[in-house]
Amino acid sequence: MDITIRELLIDDLNDIIEIEEACFSVPWSKESFKAEIRHQSTHYNCIEINKKVIGYAGLWKILDEGHITNIAVIPQYRKKGFGEKLIKNLLKYCKNNNIDKITLEVRESNIAAKELYKKIGFETAGIRKSYYTKPTENAEIMWIEI
Ligand SMILES: CC(C)(COP(=O)(O)OP(=O)(O)OC[C@H]1O[C@@H](n2cnc3c(N)ncnc32)[C@H](O)[C@@H]1OP(=O)(O)O)[C@@H](O)C(=O)NCCC(=O)NCCS
Repeated sequence: MDITIRELLIDDLNDIIEIEEACFSVPWSKESFKAEIRHQSTHYNCIEINKKVIGYAGLWKILDEGHITNIAVIPQYRKKGFGEKLIKNLLKYCKNNNIDKITLEVRESNIAAKELYKKIGFETAGIRKSYYTKPTENAEIMWIEI
């Protein structure tokens, strides 16, 4: 397998939309992704296997804080350590860019994602009531200091 971890590019949008549709009940559109990738306050990385993007993760930079917007790995490549690699790569980026506090929201029922974040060292700091739709669900707010 030819595996690369690198910055996400506009040229990757078709692969990203496939990932979105396979992973989320409310996927982001191509247009919102394009704006997101181009914005100067964001940083997105991805994993490419044999020339196809199979997962991505990204964040917003707000002063010394990083707000992780999303992470997804397509179902057939899960449980192989790629999610962990994507988050660790974002944390490395934060460290190199003087961002030392990182936060995210996750569905209360999303055991896979919560276990991934806990493994890396994130801790739950609060709840946002009915934050998600389709289905309506609370979000857990998690933080890590690096
Ligand atoms: C969450 C997600 C990105 C994890 O990606 P992944 O590549 O499968 O994760 P990894 O293989 O790197 O797993 C790392 C750790 O996460 C935890 N984990 C991952 N999947 C898990 C599962 N199904 N159940 C329990 N823990 C899990 C484990 O602690 C695992 O470590 P281990 O392998 O030593 O047990 C993936 O499940 C996904 O894309 N889900 C759909 C999108 C989503 O929910 N994104 C999160 C939005 S907040």
